[in-house]
Amino acid sequence: MRFDVLTLFPELFSSFLKETILGRAVKAGVVDIRLVNIRSFARGRHLVADDRPFGGGEGMVMKPGPISRALESVDRTKGRSLVVLLTPQGRTFDQTLAWELSRMEQVVLICGHYEGVDERIRASCVDLELSIGDYVLSGGETAAMVVMDAVSRLVPGVLGGEKSAQEDSFEDGLLEYPQYTRPRVFKNQEVPEILLSGDHEKIRVWRRTASLKRTLERRPDLLEKAKLTEEDKRILGKLRKKPEK
Ligand code: ADE
Repeated sequence: MRFDVLTLFPELFSSFLKETILGRAVKAGVVDIRLVNIRSFARGRHLVADDRPFGGGEGMVMKPGPISRALESVDRTKGRSLVVLLTPQGRTFDQTLAWELSRMEQVVLICGHYEGVDERIRASCVDLELSIGDYVLSGGETAAMVVMDAVSRLVPGVLGGEKSAQEDSFEDGLLEYPQYTRPRVFKNQEVPEILLSGDHEKIRVWRRTASLKRTLERRPDLLEKAKLTEEDKRILGKLRKKPEK
């Protein structure tokens, strides 16, 4: 899996790429990340990559030329490849989209800045506009990191155990059950007895119930789309009648 990140601020990515699982995946050769500095494709003595908006108004707009040339410099001949523009106007990123992107061989991420990117870039070069949520960031770089983090951990070989990605919150449409580690008592709170019992079936049912309960309490909207078994439906029925403590 390869990411090409087009940005005016490549240095923002250095500690992110060093310190995370993604950094390890890069070292192991499972994920390849190339940073492309858009400013290197700007022209003139001052290498200007942005300009005032036609029609007037606040702020600056990223010029189409440097982005387009930066994009042309990226080798896109090696398989399934998608050009993504990070923008608050895009499709909202979620686990389903993370899986879709993880099946690509190459994802090119264009990080916008200033007041936005010239509209003709969206129209002529972009396959997908993607937002990480309903808020406005000062640039697409942090959004690109979110996307690379969530997508690359789904790529086989990145996490080590494929199971761990599948057990995450959202994988079956539910929030994850609570987790505990040592010590057994912390600030007067004990670890639930069942988790110490060694009875795998009881632990499985406890965890599934906790997962359903948490989803019901915090994100009932997720239950409408979740993949629920007959057992889940039974547990949910009980939880709805008498929410357990
Ligand atoms: N750029 C600015 N805000 C953004 C957002 N919410 N998602 C993706 N890119 C952005």
